[in-house]
Amino acid sequence: MRKPIIAGNWKMNKTPAEARALVEALVPLAADAQCDVVVCTPAVDFAAVSEVIRGTNIKLGAQNMHWKESGAYTGELSADMLKAYGVEYVILGHSERRQYFGETDTTVNLRVLAAVKAGLTPIICVGEKKEEREAGYTDALVSYQTKIALSGLTADEVRHVVIAYEPVWAIGTGLTATDEQANETIGVIREAVRSVYGDAADDVRIQYGGSMNPKNCKGLMAQPEIDGGLIGGASLKAEDFSKVVHFDA
Ligand code: 13P
Repeated sequence: MRKPIIAGNWKMNKTPAEARALVEALVPLAADAQCDVVVCTPAVDFAAVSEVIRGTNIKLGAQNMHWKESGAYTGELSADMLKAYGVEYVILGHSERRQYFGETDTTVNLRVLAAVKAGLTPIICVGEKKEEREAGYTDALVSYQTKIALSGLTADEVRHVVIAYEPVWAIGTGLTATDEQANETIGVIREAVRSVYGDAADDVRIQYGGSMNPKNCKGLMAQPEIDGGLIGGASLKAEDFSKVVHFDA
C-alpha cells in the first residue's frame, strides 16, 4: 500500500514572519494526519519553518534546486544548501519553471539525478497544456516527460520518488481535472514507469495537482491511482490545507 502524501507548494508567497505564523497554525491542525505532510516553501522561509516544525510530522520541501554541487551559478541553490536547513523534499520541473524559466525535460532529469544522489526526495511535476489535451497528446506527453525525468535512476531509486501530475490548464485556474480524468492520466504515468522499471511502478507515489482544495480533495483521493496532492492556493491558509490533509474526514 502506498502512503498518501499531501504537499503544499507555497510558490512565491510568504515572508519569513508570515511563514512562521502559517506553520504555527498548521502544526496542531495537522498533528493527527494519516498521510505524509510536506510544506514546500520559498528558501528564505526555511530557517523559520524548520524551527517551528522540528519534532512534528510536517516535513520541509524546496521548490527547485540546481544539479551542481557548487560553483558559478548566480541565484541558484545546491542540494547541500537545502539539506543544511532540514529540507527533505524538492519540487522539480514545475510547469511554472518550464513555462517562465526555460526548464526542459533534460534539465529536470539532471536535477532529479542530483536530488536523489543527495538523499532528497524529488517531487517531479509533469502535465499537459490545454491545447495538448485537446489535440489528444496527453498520454504520450506525460509518458515522455516521466521517462526522461527518471532516466538514469535505478528501479530501487524510482520506488522512492514522488511524481505530481499537474495539468497546466488546472493550475491556479479553479478548473480541476475530473476525478476520472486525473485517475486515468495518473494510471498512464504509472504504466510509463512500469514499462521501464517494472514493479517499482507499484511503489511510486503519484499526486494530483491543480486547483485541489478542501471541497474536491475527497473525490480525487478516493481514486485508486491517486496517492496524494500537490496543493498551491489552498496550502496558503492553515485551515484549508489542514482540510486537504484530512481528505477522508
Ligand atoms: P493551485 O492549487 O493553486 O492550482 O496550484 C497547483 C500547483 O501548481 C501546485 O504545484
